[in-house]
Amino acid sequence: MDQSAELAEWIKAASTCVVFTGAGMSTESGLPDFRSQRGLWSGQDPTKLASTHSMHHNRQAFIEFYRMRIEGLLSCLPHAGHELLAGWETRGLIRGIITQNVDGFHQRAGSESVAELHGTLATVRCSLCQNERPSETYLAAEGTHCQCGGFMRPSVVLFGESLPQTALEQAEEWTNEADLFIVFGSSLVVSPANFFPQQAKENGAKLVIVNREPTPLDGWADMVIQDMLIGSLLQETDKILNL
Ligand code: APR
Repeated sequence: MDQSAELAEWIKAASTCVVFTGAGMSTESGLPDFRSQRGLWSGQDPTKLASTHSMHHNRQAFIEFYRMRIEGLLSCLPHAGHELLAGWETRGLIRGIITQNVDGFHQRAGSESVAELHGTLATVRCSLCQNERPSETYLAAEGTHCQCGGFMRPSVVLFGESLPQTALEQAEEWTNEADLFIVFGSSLVVSPANFFPQQAKENGAKLVIVNREPTPLDGWADMVIQDMLIGSLLQETDKILNL
């Protein structure tokens, strides 16, 4: 049986299937990931850009980096894979999506049960009064300033910051309920996000990793799919789920 057919069987048989996504989920929308060959971190140290230190001491580079990412977001759209996952939620096939992504594409594609571990690039907020604005405002010259005098920063989790408690608790709850845990497009090297697939496996869930490159958790997984891109795999699996 080919892997998409086997995955479809596992999804049908599962009582609680939880999906976990990383930047590889959005590369087929045109957004770069971080650690692939042409990823955002190839050739640069993320802590020098996407960190609280950079926000305070390397501010212009910080602003330019996030303006570039916001422009990318505004010019790309969720792909069919995001939409299929939203449909699987509607049909009760998946409990929810734990995502490291900040692009908001799962929600834009119609998913409602999404736990954003690393925040969102859909908005920026004031570092002083916490006032929030849509991220496109960040592209204007005065977009980095708040009326209160504070500095506007993206609503993402920067290196050096803790993850949002609500998202962590939701991810923990779903992970503990899961008997099938599917990872789509993550190198699984960043903690504490990479705790959740490990926790699911330790709880006795089946762990599936769909990623075109090896990950440190492949040895734990019950199925590793490397030779199909996420978009194609989701379409193949959906066809079988619809039979
Ligand atoms: N199909 C399958 N796998 C893919 C595809 C695709 N179409 N596109 C990319 N990949 C794989 C890459 O091979 C890579 O291993 O997705 C993985 C993405 O890994 P990373 O770039 O490390 O992204 P991610 O795991 O989400 O990073 C976690 O790191 O910098 C932080 O906050 C940032 O949330 C991010 C976190």
